[in-house]
Amino acid sequence: MNLAGKRVLVTGGTRGIGRATVEAFLQAGARVAVNGSSAASVSSALAGLGAGDRAVAAPGDLGQVPGCQQVVERAVASLGGLDILVNNAGVGSPKPFEETTAVDWDATVNINLRAVYFCTKYAVPALRRAKGNVVNVASILGLGGRGAGLSLYCASKGGVVNLTRDLAIELAPDIRVNCICPGAVDTEMLQELGRSLGKGDVTAGYAILTQNRPMKRVARASEIANAILYFASDLASFVTGSIQVVDGGVMAKAG
Ligand SMILES: NC(=O)c1ccc[n+]([C@@H]2O[C@H](COP(=O)([O-])OP(=O)(O)OC[C@H]3O[C@@H](n4cnc5c(N)ncnc54)[C@H](OP(=O)(O)O)[C@@H]3O)[C@@H](O)[C@H]2O)c1
Repeated sequence: MNLAGKRVLVTGGTRGIGRATVEAFLQAGARVAVNGSSAASVSSALAGLGAGDRAVAAPGDLGQVPGCQQVVERAVASLGGLDILVNNAGVGSPKPFEETTAVDWDATVNINLRAVYFCTKYAVPALRRAKGNVVNVASILGLGGRGAGLSLYCASKGGVVNLTRDLAIELAPDIRVNCICPGAVDTEMLQELGRSLGKGDVTAGYAILTQNRPMKRVARASEIANAILYFASDLASFVTGSIQVVDGGVMAKAG
């Protein structure tokens, strides 16, 4: 895929799915602003990428609305505009529903949903100028429940799914807005679950997690990045408001 000259902001681009997405955009010739919650996490990611001035730093805590504005403004200034926004940053934070507090709500929903809303809002003027697009990273847990202490995660990701649909309509025809819903992906976020299921052995935990799933494995982060690049590219020039599951067939199963 050729995305030469495209200017991209990836939130949560320091590791996991975001990092794989940054690498895929760089591979395709784009210039990328990499966000993470701290200057240290971003500079360490940039050092590992070895992309020279095609990758620039856009650190900032997206849990705060002013942080969202600063990150977007910095990315637009460093890249000289913006063609593609990937709203990927997210947190898991499992906790039984009955133990959750308003503090837990803010800690999860402010990053998983509010930051998607406000990063997009602040990016719209630049995206409109560029006739650009937004790719949101939700989850299959935005389409169905799990009943395993993930109520805040499910609520926030469900919000991202329907926000995608609404913005696709309101921002058309200038800006396309799409959403990827990954299943289980091998990143730090999932390794915690793998370790707990496998009693310290992540691989054994993944085997337990996926034994009844069609593909019998978790995804590599690059497999999610590939889908993100498709939606961000001109191959998807007539695709907006689309919610794309990338889950190895999990949601295809009834019961
Ligand atoms: N892994 C899965 O199985 C899975 C499945 C479905 C959906 N997802 C979704 O995919 C996205 C990426 O997940 P992942 O598995 O790659 O997670 P991860 O490995 O835990 O990485 C999370 C990323 O988000 C950033 N981040 C967290 N809090 C932030 C904040 N307050 N401000 C700015 N950046 C922040 C982190 O930056 P720092 O490094 O700077 O903290 C990091 O780059 C998330 O939205 C997640 O919900 C993941």
